[in-house]
Amino acid sequence: MLRSKIGGIGYYVPEKVVTNHDLTKVMDTSDEWIQERTGILERRYGKKHEETTTSMAARASTVAIERAGIQKEEVDFIIFATLSPDYYFPGCGVLLQRELGITNTAAGALDIRNQCSGFLYGLTVGDQFIRTGMYKNVLVVGAEMHSMGLDFTTRGRNVTVIFGDGAGAVVLQPTEEENKGILSTCLHSDGTYAEKLAFINPGAHGGYHAKYLEEPADYGYSDAEYGEMFITQRMIDEGMLFPYMDGPFVFKMAVQKFPEVIIEALDKAGLQKEDLDMVIPHQANLRISQFVQKRLGLRDSQIWNNIQKFGNTTAASVPIALCEAYEAGAVKPGDLVCLAAFGSGFTWGAAVLRW
Ligand code: ACO
Repeated sequence: MLRSKIGGIGYYVPEKVVTNHDLTKVMDTSDEWIQERTGILERRYGKKHEETTTSMAARASTVAIERAGIQKEEVDFIIFATLSPDYYFPGCGVLLQRELGITNTAAGALDIRNQCSGFLYGLTVGDQFIRTGMYKNVLVVGAEMHSMGLDFTTRGRNVTVIFGDGAGAVVLQPTEEENKGILSTCLHSDGTYAEKLAFINPGAHGGYHAKYLEEPADYGYSDAEYGEMFITQRMIDEGMLFPYMDGPFVFKMAVQKFPEVIIEALDKAGLQKEDLDMVIPHQANLRISQFVQKRLGLRDSQIWNNIQKFGNTTAASVPIALCEAYEAGAVKPGDLVCLAAFGSGFTWGAAVLRW
């Protein structure tokens, strides 16, 4: 039976470290508040004008491709998950192809917009291509340059302190080895709460979805007949161009969905939580991961947390954490690993794999 295995993995985080103390210089927050609520001590920010979501993805991908033992021209398909793309369009997939110098036009490129669960969605899509025999080397990437779109004033503090920049990548390859590679994947979505964690402006919505909201919303539109639908002067003047998050609501949903989807993916693979060697949760918030750990009865050595030093890197967080765990020797051949994520949409998912 043909399965996908992770043939190579890599990650990259920018050099620039931004501590909680650094953030207190631009907004009303404190190291104590951030650590207590999120577990974060510091995060990385890419170098403006020199680093982007794509350039960081290329750094991570280069390592993954090398470890997979292939030439970059052998990549058949690129799947790129991000919520902070370099351009509104075209997507980062083709920008990465160019940045890596892949001139093979037979290689397809697909962008995934599923935020925190984007990498899990990408992995699942790539897995299908491998299982059906369509491709032999699928590059799945999660990368974010959050620092380019955060509100660095007190108004945006509940969101801004959480996020960091970085990239992670894997190369999926076929294996016929018994009990190796991706054993199961589960994906879910529920659009009911789309605006609870969202980056709404600029966009082409024109306020359309307000009918689904409990409270009336001001999106910052003007009365102009043409244009000004995507972006208006008011949006700029009144700071309406930043992400919004109903933190407590997201927290409640996340702590419910993470354990549920992990158990579901284990069930699907015919396994139980006692079989797990390592859980790599999306690094949303250390408190969420601690809750998941408790619910599943995992020891400290069975769950990987690195949000303390990188913050929440959304689509990049799972591959960065997995790569770090692998490099630290905490994920070894034969280990049963579960990757899981929950985020904006809401979308969530999990994958169980034998390393
Ligand atoms: N520094 C200081 N005070 C702050 C900050 C900050 N950075 N941010 C918010 N506050 C204040 C608020 O203004 C509020 O003050 P008030 O009581 O005077 O109005 C108070 O702290 C409490 O605000 P809440 O939003 O209720 O804070 P909460 O305790 O819920 O913590 C947090 C906020 C950390 C965002 C939490 O809700 C959370 O972790 N939610 C989960 C969401 C999450 O993890 N998101 C990550 C991205 S989504 C994902 O990856 C799944």
